[in-house]
Order: sequence, then C-alpha cells, then structure tokens
Amino acid sequence: MATFTLPKNSTISKGKHYPAPHGAKKVRSFKIYRWDPDSGENPRTDTYDIDLDACGPMVLDALIKIKNEVDTTLTFRRSCREGICGSCSMNIDGLNTLACLKPIEDVKGEVKIHPLPHMPVVKDLVPDLSQIYAQLRSVEPWLKADTPPPPDGERLQSKEERAKLDGLWECILCFCCSTACPSYWWNGDRYLGPAVLLQAYRWIADSRDEATGERLDALEDPFKLYRCHTIMNCARTCPKGLNPGQAIGEIKKMLAERQV
Ligand code: SF4
Ligand code: SF4
Ligand code: FES
Repeated sequence: MATFTLPKNSTISKGKHYPAPHGAKKVRSFKIYRWDPDSGENPRTDTYDIDLDACGPMVLDALIKIKNEVDTTLTFRRSCREGICGSCSMNIDGLNTLACLKPIEDVKGEVKIHPLPHMPVVKDLVPDLSQIYAQLRSVEPWLKADTPPPPDGERLQSKEERAKLDGLWECILCFCCSTACPSYWWNGDRYLGPAVLLQAYRWIADSRDEATGERLDALEDPFKLYRCHTIMNCARTCPKGLNPGQAIGEIKKMLAERQV
C-alpha cells in the first residue's frame, strides 16, 4: 500500500454517521479520522455512536467494537492491548497516548481520535513509521562490546549500574513523544527526536556497552541532537511516564563534559 503525507491544502470533510443501536442508553460518540490515500479522496471524520453498556472500558475496546460490529474498513494498529507493544499509539482528545490504556470515561464528551500528528498516513489511524525506524537503526540500539563475555556466564552489572537503566528500558517505542515534539515536527528528517535519543542514551548509559565514545561522536551534530529545546512535550505525553527530555539532557551533559 502506498503511503502519502497529507497534502497541505487538503480539507477534512464531514464523514458518515453510524447511529447507536435502538434502545442504547449510555451512548458516546467517537469521531474518527478516516483517510485512504489510495482512494484519491480527501480525509473525512466519521462519527460512530457506541453503546458503552455493551463495550469494554478503554478507547481501544471501542475501536475494536467498531471494526468488528459497525465498520470493518476502519484501520488501526494494536496487538497486546495492555500497554506493552506500543502499536496502538494515536492522538485521543488532543493527546498522544495508547488507546489500550486510555479509559473512555477519562474523555469528556465526544471522543476525537486522529493518527499520531505530523507523520505520513498509511490509512486512517496508521502512521508510516519507516523514517523513525530508520532513525532508530542509525543509533545502533544493541550492545556493542569487543571484550568477549565470561565463558561461564553473562556480562554482570552492579545494582547501581543496573539502576542507571531505569526510566530507559521501559520505553515501548510507541513514538507518542517524538510526534508531540515541535522540533521533530519541523526537522524530523534530521533531528532524531526524543524516542530515538532516549534509546541512544539507554545504550550510552549501559555499563556493559563499550562504544560510548563512538555513540557520542555520532550524536554530536547540530541537527541530530541539538534541535531539542527542552520544551518537554515529550515527557508530558509519554504513556509510560518516561522523560526523554531528561535523557537528551544527559547526552548533552556528557558531550559538554568531555570537552573540558
Ligand atoms: S524536550 Fe526536546 S525532545 Fe522533548 S519535546 Fe521538547 S524539544 Fe522535543
Ligand atoms: S519514551 Fe515514552 S512516549 Fe516515547 S517512545 Fe518511549 S514509551 Fe513511547
Ligand atoms: S495494543 Fe499494545 S500498547 Fe496498546
């Protein structure tokens, strides 16, 4: 399937309305962005009225219900449905988050759902993550060490060394942070963005990794790293409570310290 960035002059049309079943008492409207770039049509917003008495509590439950029972053409990603895989990230009620962790009751009024902002759209709520995954690959997010591991065991860390990875290893690569970052919106082709930089720091901070200097060299670039202006949208939106802005600050500090 082809992927396209939403054309700048495109308009979002009023879409179809799917009313709730007769007799439904606890009805909530879900307004969902719909766009199939292959169709040649403009994006639209479809409205689905859902009976919450017959639906699970999370926004993802409603999306699954819509797809299974109302409109099979609705397209979105999901897998684990418990905040582990990172695939159901989208913009709900103006905030990037995971649909499987977002209670419907937390949204007042209509539930407005869009794909992650400023990303090319494959279809409906599915963004094209090719560029951001290429950026992730570029930071080589794996252990790099020339020293062979001990023949009879694993590479060990002290408790203190291991603790330095807390707040980093929990990242599920949902990209809510990068797609909430204004610097990434405007310079996403050259700025690596908070998710990828947090991953880069996860390996820089790992006592078992022997490529720290090389990793720092690769990040010392006005665009890859220094487009972060500490606006902190990333930390505000992370559904796992992580702070990529702080990780970026640690990288900047290490680069500054090695210059003195
Ligand atoms: S702190 Fe940096 S990475 Fe986070 S939103 Fe702001 S500019 Fe983006
Ligand atoms: S830091 Fe948080 S928001 Fe960013 S990719 Fe990781 S889990 Fe998602
Ligand atoms: S479905 Fe896996 S994080 Fe939501």
